[in-house]
Amino acid sequence: MPSLVGKSVLLIISGGIAAYKSLELIRLLRKNGASVRCVLTKGGSEFVTPLSVAALSEHPVYTDLFSLKDESEMGHIRLSREADLIVVAPASANLLSKMANGIADDLASTTLLASNKPIMVAPAMNPEMWAKPATQRNIDTLRKDGVYIVDPAHGEMACGETGRGRMIEATEILQSIENFLEASSPLSGFSALVTSGPTYEPIDPVRFIGNRSSGKQGHAIATALARAGATVTLVTGPVSLPDPVGVQTIHVETAHEMRDACLNALPSDLAVCAAAVADWRVKAPPEHKMKKQAGSAPPALNFTENPDILAMISSHQNRPKLVIGFAAETENARTAAQEKLIRKGCDWIIANQVGITEFPVFGSDHNQVTLVTRSICDDWPPLSKQEVATRLVDAIINHIKNTGSDQNDNAATGHPNFSTAV
Ligand code: C5P
Repeated sequence: MPSLVGKSVLLIISGGIAAYKSLELIRLLRKNGASVRCVLTKGGSEFVTPLSVAALSEHPVYTDLFSLKDESEMGHIRLSREADLIVVAPASANLLSKMANGIADDLASTTLLASNKPIMVAPAMNPEMWAKPATQRNIDTLRKDGVYIVDPAHGEMACGETGRGRMIEATEILQSIENFLEASSPLSGFSALVTSGPTYEPIDPVRFIGNRSSGKQGHAIATALARAGATVTLVTGPVSLPDPVGVQTIHVETAHEMRDACLNALPSDLAVCAAAVADWRVKAPPEHKMKKQAGSAPPALNFTENPDILAMISSHQNRPKLVIGFAAETENARTAAQEKLIRKGCDWIIANQVGITEFPVFGSDHNQVTLVTRSICDDWPPLSKQEVATRLVDAIINHIKNTGSDQNDNAATGHPNFSTAV
């Protein structure tokens, strides 16, 4: 899998002849699976055109702090928050100086000041400018502030002088980004199985029984796990969502197909069963479409029970170390979740009360859930489904950190240790 799948980079291009290398950097980042948004300073746009940056990144380019269009599409706060990493390349002496001193007088510097994300800078300037005490003071300040500096290289400059100041090559910046993001991928090396969406159970070749699950929550969890570095297999019923980037997605229709795909995906380090699997299927769907006969009674459907995939995964010989289920209930969600946890043999349940919370859960972009483990019930506030996914993945990361992989086994049950509060 490409190294940067699921990662997003905000690239700030400031003024300098090295800006041409940033075009190659955008291409390399995208080739490796990252999504790239770009901010171009006024100086930067003297060296590369917004059009070439937009064409390569396949996103609009942001240039102006006070542009109604830029701000309404993606304000500077959102720009600074949505990336996994902000890369300033080339970083001019001027922009470094603004960053070191907290100056926010254009879109690039304001975005950098507003950011709560890691920042990497690749300086590029004339050797005299790089060597000046003022620049070195700024670099020291930025290092102390936690900014990651990719030092410039020694060589011949565009201005004809020789010395240290050349921006390193795009391939080397890419390598630094990969190393940086690898180190911040806490689930790197972990595999995860996620189920999502509804199942469709045939009544006859053209009709089926389904449910209102949109798959939004399950897909968001698969994406968040992939972003945290896990290798994710998503088994999804029929949904109208695109396959998440960087996730191996298997499309199924029925509960039987979902079960087979899930069992094939084992062993896996963790499983999150967010699919709304039909409890029953029609026992013997006819080979041909059932016909309405004038004057005859409607057909009676004879149901039989579907396999419980969550329970099967929980008792499987290749049981994941952490198995998480969902429980959508119309009443007493907490109690039902606690009971479900025991009955299905999973470790955590994400419970929600369908139709009673502030939001209609099915199809909505929001969710209000309670995380139920064998020792705690933690009510989360109303959140977007993406935020629920991020919070769940944080809880998983904490759990793994606190239990350690070899302490996970409880001698009595073979199940993970539940003592960790998340
Ligand atoms: O029993 P109930 O359908 O409420 O349980 C919900 C949880 O069990 C969800 O995590 C769902 O994905 C899982 N499930 C399953 N297979 C079934 C029914 C539910 O994996 N046949």
